[in-house]
Amino acid sequence: MSTAEPSEQLILGIETSCDETAAAVVANGTRVLSNVISSQIDLHARYGGVVPEVASRAHVTAMTPVVAQALLEAGVEPGELHGIAATHGPGLVGSLLVGVSTAKALALVWDLPFVGVNHLEAHLYASFVEEPDLEMPLVVLLVSGGHTMLVLMRGHGDYEVLGQTMDDAAGEAYDKVARQLGLGYPGGPIIDRLAMTGKPTIAFPRPVLNEGYKFSFSGLKTSVINHIRKNPDAKTEDVAASFQEAVVDVLVTKARRAAVETGAKGLATGGGVAANSRLREAVIDACLEDGLTPFLPSRSMCTDNAAMVGAVGWWRLNSDGPSPLDTGATPNLGLPVR
Ligand code: KG4
Ligand code: ZN
Repeated sequence: MSTAEPSEQLILGIETSCDETAAAVVANGTRVLSNVISSQIDLHARYGGVVPEVASRAHVTAMTPVVAQALLEAGVEPGELHGIAATHGPGLVGSLLVGVSTAKALALVWDLPFVGVNHLEAHLYASFVEEPDLEMPLVVLLVSGGHTMLVLMRGHGDYEVLGQTMDDAAGEAYDKVARQLGLGYPGGPIIDRLAMTGKPTIAFPRPVLNEGYKFSFSGLKTSVINHIRKNPDAKTEDVAASFQEAVVDVLVTKARRAAVETGAKGLATGGGVAANSRLREAVIDACLEDGLTPFLPSRSMCTDNAAMVGAVGWWRLNSDGPSPLDTGATPNLGLPVR
């Protein structure tokens, strides 16, 4: 038997949008009973990035054991679940299809409602998994490998995208710069560690710093690549620290401005890049100066996981009801805005 209270609704969340096969059992959108992640990083590292076909096949292999493990660790029998939620976009189509098909098949067999979850909304809800009473309106800086956006959350399910990147996402810039520096994949955590030993002595550009809430990282990435070519003897750790300083400066300058200008009570972060040590420090410092409440989900809740999918699944099931069983994968799914 599970440790869930009879009044709690248990959702099995499934996440397969990119290169993590993940399943979790979450009670009432906030209490995580299990959170299992099988990473494919080792499979993709030799190619310097995620290979979609390799990712889909690896999801098929890992999916069933990962779901079984999530139920086992939660101590939950299928009959105790109230619904099954899976990410249906945005992401890699072949990867998404594995999670969506699995969730719909299990929902049919176990006679449970199925809920299709938006991956961006899941990153927004990672904060609420750990801090259910976070006050809104809240500005969320969502920074991942595929997205960089500032979102104003007025209430549950009530979002406004204040601005987003016009080209590369912040995580994509980290990964591409790391590849140029010959550091491996994924680049974000490697640059994060390396930058700790370097000095931010190179003045890389801060693109569109004073232009509203939009972002651009492609020019910065090119500027770093040009610097490496022209200065082959530059210390890698100084290049890493200087690049990171430019990214963090742009992200935090815009996020704090958005929070102040919209009258938000707090500033939260989400997405893989939100695991970055320098960004976390800078967000806390900015919030202290501006009188805002910072919320930084734990690092494992920032990167892709299924607990955040289970959380959104619970909210959406109770607000909108189940999703149809012909729900497919939507690679370019946007955040639902009112
Ligand atoms: O949210 P996520 O796990 O997957 C997507 O939805 O994209 O984010 C992955 C991205 C990758 O680009 C990775 O390099 C970056 O997050 N990342 C980091 C750190 N950890 C992961 N970037 C900077 N610093 C980190 N510590
Ligand atoms: Zn993600």
